[in-house]
Amino acid sequence: MASAVERFDNKARETFESWGQTTVYRGELLRHPVYTRALHWMVALFFFLALFSGFGIYLPWLFRWFTPIFGGGQLSRTMHPWFGVAFVFFFALQALNWLKPMAWTPADTNWMRGMKKIVSGEEKMDPPETGFFNAGQKVQFWEIVIGCVVYLITGIVMWAGAGTFGRISVAISYVLHDISALIMLGGIFIHIYESTFGQPGTFQAMIRGAVSEAWAWTFHPAWYKEVTGRDARQACEEERRRMTGE
Ligand code: HEM
Repeated sequence: MASAVERFDNKARETFESWGQTTVYRGELLRHPVYTRALHWMVALFFFLALFSGFGIYLPWLFRWFTPIFGGGQLSRTMHPWFGVAFVFFFALQALNWLKPMAWTPADTNWMRGMKKIVSGEEKMDPPETGFFNAGQKVQFWEIVIGCVVYLITGIVMWAGAGTFGRISVAISYVLHDISALIMLGGIFIHIYESTFGQPGTFQAMIRGAVSEAWAWTFHPAWYKEVTGRDARQACEEERRRMTGE
């Protein structure tokens, strides 16, 4: 029987599918439906709004030039927690949406062991057991989940202030909030690189919702097998022969 989370998620997917559309051409596979894409871009939008409004508060002498975007320093400070709440809200929905494919498996532990070869490009294809998300993507996802919990707790403490939680709690919250933001920012740089130049063909997964079969068998062979029933390496070899006329 489907859990309450699955029922909610399925209903949301159905609703969003009637608002937007995903065209999957021949030789492509459906990667992310409309609901997932809408959530991802809301997450990204509020992440950057929170980040840029936060910069002006974190280091005003360096980033004061960001604050006019939000109507001045005072308004940046007022808006920042609301951008943060919206970011956490949309990421919570995204987390429910991806809970299943983000579960850690023994294949992920193997992926981590061979990460150097995969990331350096020495290994042209990901290991055959790599599913819908690879271990690197899962690590980042869970880092964001933990980061969101840290933002929420420390954010509420700072928002309510020393009058409610005491000066020490507020001081500790500032430090933890900023550490969490810096770790997440570092991760997002890697994420943006990997989703665009690092793994060509990935960006369209979040724009159009579809990816080429070649992308799927290269980066997510077990997922490719799950949706097509074909072995990834064999499919790649057949395509190579077809193209070279062997
Ligand atoms: C301009 C900025 C961004 C771009 C170009 C981008 C692009 C993408 C793409 C193409 C995917 C699909 C990957 C796949 O199907 O394998 C994806 C997934 C994802 N995105 Fe983003 N994204 C951006 C910003 C963000 C931000 C700000 C966050 C959260 C703070 C985020 C969190 C995620 C997560 C958790 C996933 C799933 C796992 C992964 O692929 O790492 N993204 N993104």
